[in-house]
Amino acid sequence: LTPSIALRPACPDDEPFLTAMLRLAAGWRTGSAAARLSAADVAYVRGFGRPGDAGLIALCDGAPAGAAWYRLFTRDEGTYGHVADDVPELAIAVRPEARGRGIATLLLDRLLAAAAREGRPGVSLSVEDGNPARRLYDRAGFVVVTSAGGASTMACPAARLARDRAG
Ligand SMILES: CC(C)(COP(=O)(O)OP(=O)(O)OC[C@H]1O[C@@H](n2cnc3c(N)ncnc32)[C@H](O)[C@@H]1OP(=O)(O)O)[C@@H](O)C(=O)NCCC(=O)NCCS
Repeated sequence: LTPSIALRPACPDDEPFLTAMLRLAAGWRTGSAAARLSAADVAYVRGFGRPGDAGLIALCDGAPAGAAWYRLFTRDEGTYGHVADDVPELAIAVRPEARGRGIATLLLDRLLAAAAREGRPGVSLSVEDGNPARRLYDRAGFVVVTSAGGASTMACPAARLARDRAG
């Protein structure tokens, strides 16, 4: 039986789930769900729901299976994937047992469409070298802005946010 996939907007009560997803992103190399989060990591989820935040939760047969969300940061906050203060930074993860079914592709597509509707000038992110998520970003229209220290900052410019997205 194919599980049913649904999306809903992320809300402040989702902070614990988003934190769990952030651990998967931080621990992608080992597949650990228990990765320690640095203060810099926690900045992506703390107090989720502030102005400028947006996110989607993927539900697999009604249970949260993944999430993609973004948040605005100022340059002096020193986040990993900052390109401009008006370009939100994206984070994404899917529970291991739900991977390989297109959930991340769907989340990314719908969140970028939402960013286009909100009139964002782009969306950025940071991805470590070797992370298979990189292919997902390439396909979605992200391009490398800078690469250093084993990671790349990528951005999806406004013109590509809206392309052929069902939203
Ligand atoms: C990256 C990630 C979000 C992809 O989620 P997903 O729902 O499996 O993605 P999709 O099904 O839309 O497919 C995306 C890719 O995963 C591949 N994939 C297929 N089966 C997979 C599986 N069982 N496990 C992992 N990836 C799989 C797909 O083939 C596709 O990549 P490719 O065809 O270019 O190789 C997920 O692997 C994840 O949560 N990783 C850990 C968190 C992370 O690294 N986040 C990004 C930090 S920058």
